[in-house]
Amino acid sequence: MRLISEKILNFRNIASAEFVPSETVTVICGENGQGKTNLLESIFLLSGAKSFRKVKDREMITKEEEFSVIDALFFAGQREQSFHFTISDKGRRASLNHGSEQKASDFAGTFCCVVFSPDHLELVKGTPSERRRFLDTALCQLSPRYLNDLRNYTRLIQQKNTLLKDARGIAAAFDILDIYDRQLADNAVGISKARRAFVGQLDLVSREAYASISGKWEEMELGYQSTLFDSGDFDPEEAYKRILAARTDDIRAGFSTVGPHRDDLDMKINGDPAKIYASQGQQRTAVLALKLAEAELFRQKLEEEPILLLDDVLSELDGYRQEFLLKRLGRSQAIITCCDPNFVERQTDAKVFRMHRGVLTEE
Ligand SMILES: Nc1ncnc2c1ncn2[C@@H]1O[C@H](COP(=O)(O)OP(=O)(O)O)[C@@H](O)[C@H]1O
Ligand SMILES: [Mg+2]
Repeated sequence: MRLISEKILNFRNIASAEFVPSETVTVICGENGQGKTNLLESIFLLSGAKSFRKVKDREMITKEEEFSVIDALFFAGQREQSFHFTISDKGRRASLNHGSEQKASDFAGTFCCVVFSPDHLELVKGTPSERRRFLDTALCQLSPRYLNDLRNYTRLIQQKNTLLKDARGIAAAFDILDIYDRQLADNAVGISKARRAFVGQLDLVSREAYASISGKWEEMELGYQSTLFDSGDFDPEEAYKRILAARTDDIRAGFSTVGPHRDDLDMKINGDPAKIYASQGQQRTAVLALKLAEAELFRQKLEEEPILLLDDVLSELDGYRQEFLLKRLGRSQAIITCCDPNFVERQTDAKVFRMHRGVLTEE
């Protein structure tokens, strides 16, 4: 998969830009706050996912403008394709190859990218929600069905939470809670199953990457921690019973206390929980290994190279890890942002752009 060109209009501080990256490595350099991450974000959105920056769609439209437009040409499925992508009051919408306009997320899986940003360095010690988000972002790109399950599930949880807050002591609420819980249990099966399978595959690949970076002295191990399923059976009845058993807790808490929205990606280094014990260096190695594994699984599943968006992370890694990462990029197209001119100088094969106050120019 490869981005051929992108035309941007009214996206954050980029009033207008035309970007033609290299087939291999492209570096976007510039001072802080100039629009480098904005450019990567505009590319990432073509995946159909929400922004990796946890923002509302509206915030991405240039201030005082009504809409943003991104026109992209890309190579995927062995042919050239195009996206006309807009952000407006109607949310993120897209049309593929001049077809009808639809919700951008309907096209999940068409254009795939792996993004690696400094926020990910918090993944190991951060909250479970960040680790779930990591899994969901990857799985939503790989499977439209997963995205659909997750969306249904999230909507049900919101409805159930509203009821839990309003319904304390109202007997009729129990009947409705029962209906929600049955539906939640059914939806939880697909999500948990997909996540556990994905974590199993990630484990194999990231273990190897971790050992290579750390010089085989250390071992990383991943597992999926489910609040509903102990075994690999994924029985909706088992899930329903668990949810039901948590009812008293749910009512007391005023929200749903068990389910995939409370699950976690369990990370261990040399047998100890990484969340508690991992050093700075180990965290960096772990996240790097995870991201490389994510890219590798995209390769295997899509039979295409995902596009790699590396946002300012190289400066966060030491020379050895930088080199490891760059070597592993393989045949993927990589778009790298950075502030460090020394780094740019070393990238002799790369196409280099400068971003200054939202204006992109080729160097
Ligand atoms: N909706 C928006 N409209 C106009 N400017 C925006 C909008 N959102 C963010 N910006 C501007 O974008 C700049 C930050 O861009 P960013 O890509 O994060 O910088 P960096 O080059 O450090 O990665 C800031 O100057 C910010 O004010
Ligand atoms: Mg940035």
